[in-house]
Amino acid sequence: MGELLYEGKAKKLFSTKDPNVLLVQYKDTATAFNGEKKEVLEGKGALNNKITSYFFDLLAENQIPSHFLERLSTLEQLVKRVTIVPLEVVVRNITAGSFAKRLGLEEGKPLPFPIVEFYYKDDNLGDPLILEDHIYALEITSEDIVSQMKKQALQINKILYEHMEQRGIRLVDFKLEFGLDQNEEVLLADEISPDTCRFWDLKSGDKLDKDRFRRNLGNVIEAYQEIDKRLGGQ
Ligand code: C5P
Repeated sequence: MGELLYEGKAKKLFSTKDPNVLLVQYKDTATAFNGEKKEVLEGKGALNNKITSYFFDLLAENQIPSHFLERLSTLEQLVKRVTIVPLEVVVRNITAGSFAKRLGLEEGKPLPFPIVEFYYKDDNLGDPLILEDHIYALEITSEDIVSQMKKQALQINKILYEHMEQRGIRLVDFKLEFGLDQNEEVLLADEISPDTCRFWDLKSGDKLDKDRFRRNLGNVIEAYQEIDKRLGGQ
């Protein structure tokens, strides 16, 4: 294995022999509330690696460019080296989480159209919600890149929403990250998993995502396994 370049809350990043390719290793650590709540959930890394690989393959089939190259093993995948844009892009279809809390709304109400939000990736600040004017005033990235990220995020939402609906799951909301490759092309990066999406069972309304961990609902791994199963996993 190459040199450890970065260790995040849920993944480690290693160099490889190819300077344009990195190895991502998924961890079993679960964190919430900016790292305040932390636990090891055995099997989570493998499930998130599998589910993320599945979604990136599905998106590639639908002409969405991403950093993903291949799943190497249970915990590892190869990805293209990108420079991450320090913005989290959240898409919401149904009221939930911080959106419901901030605006005093009940959770579970369908929104008239998908809402795209940006959060500034900064652990010290707790990843605050940020307006587009703030992004440009602080020169975080360009209007062109923001518009590409927004367009791709909405396309991804359409693909994933329909795909999950056919499998009996409501895609409530999710978070994406994007990076720029050497040619300044905007590529979807990071992961798409029950750690980064809200998935509700269409029939029962059961939460099948990280909210089970955040809200101490129990059966976290069982919920992630259920998502894997609905996607055809064994
Ligand atoms: O907490 P909030 O309602 O803003 O989260 C919106 C969506 O983004 C949820 O699906 C959540 O799992 C995801 N998210 C994430 N990483 C963060 C913040 C939110 O994956 N740091």
